[in-house]
Amino acid sequence: MDKEQIGQLIRSAIEQLQFSYTPYSGFKVGAALLSEDGKIYTGCNIENAAYTPTNCAERTAFFKAVSEGVRKFKAICVVGGKDGRLTEYAAPCGVCRQVMMEFCDPDTFQIILATGTEQYESFTLKELLPLGFGPANLE
Ligand code: THU
Repeated sequence: MDKEQIGQLIRSAIEQLQFSYTPYSGFKVGAALLSEDGKIYTGCNIENAAYTPTNCAERTAFFKAVSEGVRKFKAICVVGGKDGRLTEYAAPCGVCRQVMMEFCDPDTFQIILATGTEQYESFTLKELLPLGFGPANLE
């Protein structure tokens, strides 16, 4: 991915923060998922009064894409922070890493953590989920 593509993904993730529904934690997360065919699927976290139905931003983006028949992905950008302040990286939770494991190649899928368009770091899924359990284990 070139710098312009990464910048676009970061801007899309930041744009999502305005839709983040967080009356309980105030922790706003935005995600932008790039499919192999070049489309961006966005997501925000959506909280719930019963707490456990809460959906993370990353999974919102994945479920939007998969529900439209898209299953091949290159990268996801995640941004977030308390009250939407991007002071540090918001790394995906374990459940979201596991959802990524279902649809992404751990060696090549890139997880871009950003606090701004010029401040980011990229990790492979394998780096964030070593020895992950995925569909290949059931073959
Ligand atoms: N959250 C995400 O959206 N993504 C993550 O990977 C970590 C946590 C959300 C869920 C909840 O709305 C808030 O952050 C605090 O946990």
